Amino acid sequence: MKFFAFILLAMVTGLASAVEPASSKIPDTLEERVKPCIICHRDADLIDRDAYFPRIAGKPAGYLYNQLRNFRDGRRFYQPMAILLENMSDEYMQEIAAYFASLPYAYLEPVVPALSSAEKESVETLLYSGDPERDLPACSACHGEALLGIQPAIPGLLGLPHAYLAAQFGGWRNDGIMRGQIPDCMSEVAKKMTQEEVNALVLWLPGLPVSGQPAGAEALAPELAQRCRTILSVKEVSR
Ligand code: HEC
Ligand code: HEC
Repeated sequence: MKFFAFILLAMVTGLASAVEPASSKIPDTLEERVKPCIICHRDADLIDRDAYFPRIAGKPAGYLYNQLRNFRDGRRFYQPMAILLENMSDEYMQEIAAYFASLPYAYLEPVVPALSSAEKESVETLLYSGDPERDLPACSACHGEALLGIQPAIPGLLGLPHAYLAAQFGGWRNDGIMRGQIPDCMSEVAKKMTQEEVNALVLWLPGLPVSGQPAGAEALAPELAQRCRTILSVKEVSR
């Protein structure tokens, strides 16, 4: 495993060009350098539907960049990636994020779960209305009416594998697991939900058909942008 990690590391950081024979025809492009990433982050149709590996192609660049920084700086924890990102500069991460954001991608085919009508109702309420009594905005208020995200740093909710969604909610709800910025609006939202609501939602989302486009930044109400300010402002920090 250590050797595997080293090979990945060498490829991503560009060391590979130093150990390749001079006659090598492998071009030193970003596309070549991020090949180790694609071992895990492959096209939707190649990913096992139950896999924990998320798609990264086509997600908003600001969101991807924030996540890379989170993994590198220990705010989000997955060791194989932390090793790869250890010595990467913010600028290089921005380049990688922009590259993956620009790639074509395919969503997983929807799989509609068998939920009771009470469960469906509670999920629909969370998605499109929220619950003012718990100070819980609708998911669509932050993730866009089409649930396909709001540029530049809020990702979409559709076409993601169930196992990945369940793991993310586990991370946000469990204080022991580092995740996101502090204060982290998504973590606050997740903690206000009941476990039953989470269970139903992470089953329901992969069943929704995808249509429409990610929303532009103006779709986010100022008070919600303020609530997520630590996350939304991160992208400006380094330039
Ligand atoms: C060994 C498998 C593996 C490799 C190699 C790998 N990743 Fe990941 N990546 C994962 C897993 C698993 C997650 C989810 C981890 C979590 O949330 O705890 C993830 C999450 C991410 C996320 C966050 C996605 C989201 O929707 O929140 C980004 C961005 C990302 N990886 C980019 C990269 C890049 C860029 C590389 C190459 C430098 C890379 N990964 C290499 C397995 C991998
Ligand atoms: C106040 C705004 C806000 C609300 C409301 C909100 N989210 Fe989020 N969500 C965010 C932000 C910001 C992120 C990016 C987090 C980060 O960068 O760490 C996010 C990330 C996510 C992700 C990660 C997607 C990925 O590709 O890894 C999922 C899943 C998610 N939210 C689900 C939901 C669901 C379901 C609801 C409704 C119950 C919801 N969110 C409500 C702001 C919000």
